[in-house]
Amino acid sequence: MDKNNMKIRLDFNNMLEEYLGDKGISLKQIDGLKNKIEKANKEMVTKREAGKMDFRNLPNNQDDVVKEIKQYVNDVKDKFEAFVVLGIGGSALGPMAVHQAINHPYYNEVSREKRGGFPKFYVADNVDPEKLTYLFETIDITKTLFNVVSKSGQTSETMSQFMIVKKMLEEKMGKDAKNNIVCTTDKENGNLVSICEEEGYKKFIIPSGVGGRFSELTPVGLLPACMTGVDIEELLKGASFMDEICKNENIFENPAYMYGILNYIAMEEGKNISVMMPYADSLKYISDWYGQLWAESLGKSVNNNGDKVNTGQTPVRALGATDQHSQVQLYMEGPDDKVIVFLGVDKYKEKLVIPKSYENVPSLSFLGGESQNKLIKVEQMATEYALMESGKLNMTLTLPEVNEFTIGQVLYMFEVATAYAGELLEINAFDQPGVEAGKNATYAMFGRDGYEKKKKEIENRPVKKEKYII
Ligand code: PA5
Repeated sequence: MDKNNMKIRLDFNNMLEEYLGDKGISLKQIDGLKNKIEKANKEMVTKREAGKMDFRNLPNNQDDVVKEIKQYVNDVKDKFEAFVVLGIGGSALGPMAVHQAINHPYYNEVSREKRGGFPKFYVADNVDPEKLTYLFETIDITKTLFNVVSKSGQTSETMSQFMIVKKMLEEKMGKDAKNNIVCTTDKENGNLVSICEEEGYKKFIIPSGVGGRFSELTPVGLLPACMTGVDIEELLKGASFMDEICKNENIFENPAYMYGILNYIAMEEGKNISVMMPYADSLKYISDWYGQLWAESLGKSVNNNGDKVNTGQTPVRALGATDQHSQVQLYMEGPDDKVIVFLGVDKYKEKLVIPKSYENVPSLSFLGGESQNKLIKVEQMATEYALMESGKLNMTLTLPEVNEFTIGQVLYMFEVATAYAGELLEINAFDQPGVEAGKNATYAMFGRDGYEKKKKEIENRPVKKEKYII
C-alpha cells in the first residue's frame, strides 16, 4: 500500500472569505494570529518533550503492548462467544467508533466465520438497568469475556457494572470466573488495579499521562479492536503517519493545526457549535467520539491564568445523507453559529448499482444505471455547495477509504487538533473539572466517605416548587 495514496485530506476552501465573502475567514485574519500561532506551535513541541502530551507518543512506543495484546487475543478468542466492554466516556467511545468504522455493520448478526473467527462485540457504556439486564438475556455470560475499562478505576457506572458481572460470574463459575474478566486501567491509581492484583485478573495498562478521551490508541481501544479482528498495527501506523504530518510548523501543511486555527477564529466570532456529519454509516460513531474529545477538552470556564473565559463549541452529530432530510434545513437557514465538518469517503468498500427502471417516470429514471456510491457523493457535494452558497462555514475531511490506516490518521489528527485548539484558547485541554464535579456529586449523594461536605451542600440546594412542575 502506498501510504500517500491513503492520506486523509482536509479541504477548508469553504471556510474562507474567497468562497464565502465576508462570512468567511480571511487569510489576513489567519496572518493576524501569527504570534499566537508561533506560541502555540512552540508549546506543542515543548509540552511533548516535557512529557505533558503523552498521547503523542502512542503511535510509536507500543510495540510491546501490541505484541502482548495480539498474544492474549490469540490465546483467548476461541474460548469466548462474546466480548463485552464495560466502560464509559473515553473508555467506550473510541472502541465503538473503531469497531463501527472497520467491522461489518451487522457484525454480531453475521456468522462467526464471516467475523474472521472473532467473538461478538458489545459495549455497555451506561447505567441503564434495562439495557444491561437485556444484554444478560442476549449473551451466555459464562462464554463471555468482560473487559472492564476505567482509567481512574473508580467510575461508578463502570464499577457498578463490574460488581454486577463479577457476582453473576462467580455464582455460575466459582473460581473460574476470573478467566472471564480482563481489565484495562492505570498502573497504580484507583481501585481497579489493586482489585486485579488481588483477584488475579489479566490486566492491560493505560499510560499515566494519557487521559480518557485521548486513550483510544492505548489498550483501551487496541484490545477491543484486536479482539474483533481489527489490524491494530495498521491503526497505529496510520496515527504515526499523521504524527509526521502534524509535526509540520507550516499551518498550511498541517491539517490538525489548520483545523484548530479555523475553529479558534470561528469561536471568536461566536460560532459555538461544531457539527460533524459523516457521509458513511461506518463513520457515524467517529462523530460521537469526536464530540466527547472536542467538548470535554475545550469546554472550560477559566483559562491558564484563571480568567473567566467559558470556551468551547457544542458538538452536534449528524449523518449524511440521512440528516439532509432533517437538520440541514437548520444549518442552511438557522442561526449562523456553526462550523460544519463533513467526513467523506473516496472509495466505499462496496458498489451498489441502481437498476434501470421506470424509464417513463422522469423523477425516477435519472437514477437508473447510476450507483448509490455516486448518489451519496453527489449529495455530499450538493450539501457542501448549498452551505457555501448561503455563507455557512464548512470543511470536508476525506478518507480515500475507510480502513485501519485512515482511521488511525483521523483519530490522531483530531486529537492533535484538540490539543492545539487548547493552546490557542490558552486553556487546559487535558483536564475535566466539569465531569469530575458530576462524579463527585454522585459519590456524595451515595454517602461515600470523604464527600460529606458536598453531600451537605447538595442537601441544602434550593427546594423545587411544585407549582413549576406541571
Ligand atoms: O475523558 C475523560 O477523562 C472522561 O470522559 C473519562 O473517559 C470517563 O469519565 C471515564 O473515566 P474512567 O476511564 O476513569 O472510568
